[in-house]
Order: sequence, then structure tokens, then C-alpha cells
Amino acid sequence: MAYVLEIERDSFSHPWNESSFREELRRGEISRCVVIEEGSEEPGLIAGFILAWMVADELHITNLAVTPEMRRKGIAVFLLTHLLDMAAEEAATWCTLEVRVSNAAARSLYKRFGFREVGVREGYYIDGEDAVVLGLAL
Ligand SMILES: CC(C)(COP(=O)(O)OP(=O)(O)OC[C@H]1O[C@@H](n2cnc3c(N)ncnc32)[C@H](O)[C@@H]1OP(=O)(O)O)[C@@H](O)C(=O)NCCC(=O)NCCS
Repeated sequence: MAYVLEIERDSFSHPWNESSFREELRRGEISRCVVIEEGSEEPGLIAGFILAWMVADELHITNLAVTPEMRRKGIAVFLLTHLLDMAAEEAATWCTLEVRVSNAAARSLYKRFGFREVGVREGYYIDGEDAVVLGLAL
């Protein structure tokens, strides 16, 4: 958990705290996550993670982050590919998520996977920034 929180703090202006993660993962019937280890000798050291909810046939991505030192090495592509494959195996037909309008890196990543803009949530984030809602048919 310590490494997850560290990556989260390094990645977001308004990071989730430990209880947010625990609450997210407690809902075992709907929560899904993929974590990638760093491959070093240090046990539990991770390079990134992705979290989602699976509700009926919809996968909703709630969090994705890669440690800053390991970015642009394909880790987010790996995490997202793995999660989408898992969801497709569970018969999910649709994937959605929200992303900050200003988050060019993440928007470019999702575009690569074929996500399309399906709406805008005005003032969605705590600081008032809008969210773009993206969708992908699986
Ligand atoms: C967005 C994020 C998860 C990408 O992780 P990553 O492991 O560096 O991404 P990848 O190496 O798999 O990159 C895949 C593609 O995403 C896009 N991308 C990633 N970082 C980018 C950047 N800084 N600028 C522009 N495009 C970027 C590119 O299309 C890239 O493909 P390319 O390297 O062949 O050009 C990472 O930058 C991050 O943790 N950011 C902070 C948290 C965040 O914004 N999470 C998403 C919330 S919706």
C-alpha cells in the first residue's frame, strides 16, 4: 500500500488517501485492479496500477498511475491491455472513464486504444476542472 500511495501522491494534484483505496478494493464483487511490479529485489515495489469497477457489462476505470521514473516505457499500455482483456473475458461490452481536459498524456494514451469522447462533465473535479467522458466498445 505504501508504494501505491507514493505513486498516487506523485501523480495527482488531489490524490486518493489510504482509506479511498481500501474502500475501493473492499468492494470485491465489483472492484478490479492490475498492478505491475518493478522487478527489483525489493518486495512489493511497484511501477504502476490501474483500478476499475465492473458493473453489469460495463467496466469503469477509476484510477491509473505509473511512477514518474518509469513513464514512457509502455507500462500504462500493459496495465490497460491487461484490464481490458480481463473485462472482455467477463463479458464486459463497454468501458468508460473520466479524464481531466488538461491531461494530454492520458488522453493520448486512451486515444491510442480507440476511446471516443462521449461527453463532458463540467466542474467534475474538486478544483473545478471539467472531465471528458471517454467510452470504448469492447
Ligand atoms: C498517463 C500515464 C498513466 C501514462 O503512463 P505511461 O506508462 O508513461 O504510458 P505509456 O508509456 O504506456 O505510453 C503510452 C502512450 O500514452 C501516451 N503518452 C504517455 N505519456 C505521454 C506524455 N507525457 N505526453 C504525451 N503522450 C503521452 C503516448 O501516446 C504513449 O505512446 P508513445 O510512448 O508510443 O508515444 C502516466 O503519465 C501517469 O501516471 N500520469 C499521472 C496520472 C494520470 O494522469 N493518470 C490517468 C488519469 S485518467
